[in-house]
Amino acid sequence: SRPLSVGVAGLGTVGAGVLKVLRDNAGLISARAGRPIAVTAVSSRDRHKDRGVPVTGLRWYEDPVALVADPGVDVIVETIGGSEGPARALVEAALAAGKPVVTANKALLALHGRKLAQLAEAHNAPLAFEAAVAGGIPAIKAVREGLAGNDIRRVAGILNGTCNYILTEMRLRGLQFAEVLAEAQKLGYAEADPSFDIDGVDAAHKLAILAALAFNRPVDFSELHVEGIRDVSAVDIEMAAALGFRIKLLGIATRTEAGVSARVHPCMVPLDAPIAHVEGVFNAVVAEGDAVGRVVLQGRGAGAGPTASAVVADLVDIARGRTTPVWGASADALSAAPARPMSSH
Ligand code: NDP
Ligand code: HSE
Repeated sequence: SRPLSVGVAGLGTVGAGVLKVLRDNAGLISARAGRPIAVTAVSSRDRHKDRGVPVTGLRWYEDPVALVADPGVDVIVETIGGSEGPARALVEAALAAGKPVVTANKALLALHGRKLAQLAEAHNAPLAFEAAVAGGIPAIKAVREGLAGNDIRRVAGILNGTCNYILTEMRLRGLQFAEVLAEAQKLGYAEADPSFDIDGVDAAHKLAILAALAFNRPVDFSELHVEGIRDVSAVDIEMAAALGFRIKLLGIATRTEAGVSARVHPCMVPLDAPIAHVEGVFNAVVAEGDAVGRVVLQGRGAGAGPTASAVVADLVDIARGRTTPVWGASADALSAAPARPMSSH
């Protein structure tokens, strides 16, 4: 049957990774999607940059929003980044035009997720974002679909690959914070502005998304307490190790009768806790539901391959016509949920 034609906006670490996975696994993906998935148009700033993957023959747009008006593009992949500017303009334009969107952009979803969901619903346009949380771990599907029968009380985890890489490599190789951060940037793990990683903001974006899915309420970034790893020193890491702990940047969201608490900060994790051994760029997502108990997922949380793996999974769903409300229930059902007192601690 007719291929699903994809327009990719942003050809950096993630966007180029998507082109590569779609090319390398074309046969398998086509079988799973029920039809081929082919990139036909792209947008990035520099037309001449080497992307490590061929882009000749693809229609190229300087303005990413122009992808929406291309009648040969069935679905938009947004891998530019940023909660405002071209990424937001593109996603809004695509949804308003009824075109499905796949995005890896957690900042956009954490800050504008409610409005985007309303727009998606109003125009019957799927908005998929598996890549936005924990890279290659299928965390969105697991919490939204896999645990749909549960009253989820807690969702938590290691949600930033750059920070976990820094904390791990400082300990194992005795390197300075700045040296390891530079490595993480080179490996394509860090955000365009790495202060989002090291100040805990990126992990908080992801936690806000997970909390919305887990607790059936609109995403609300403003309710989070956020602290990063900027001030964690080599001595802190050594001392923690000597005492039998690992320092990990954790995101933890809990819901009790008293309300929701959501926070991101460095934690001393005892070595007998499995999450202490999630190292390097790996992330972990832990969810606790009343029926299932505890579920733990781990895998690579950043980088081209893992993130592209999640983007392509969303494309396969769209090719198959499998869609789910953005936040797991219709926007109306979420806003009708009883208000609970909020606290950040
Ligand atoms: P990069 O900085 O590597 O890539 C960004 C791309 O966007 C570049 O190709 C750039 O073009 C393009 N771009 C920037 N501005 C414009 C514009 N105005 N018009 C057209 N193209 C533009 O970022 P990443 O690939 O690392 O991240 C992309 C998104 O994925 C972000 O939302 C990020 O948070 C998210 N993400 C990233 C992960 C990772 O491991 N890197 C993991 C999960 C999510 P050019 O190359 O020409 O400069
Ligand atoms: N900068 C992010 C991280 C990318 O390091 O986890 C994956 O979302």
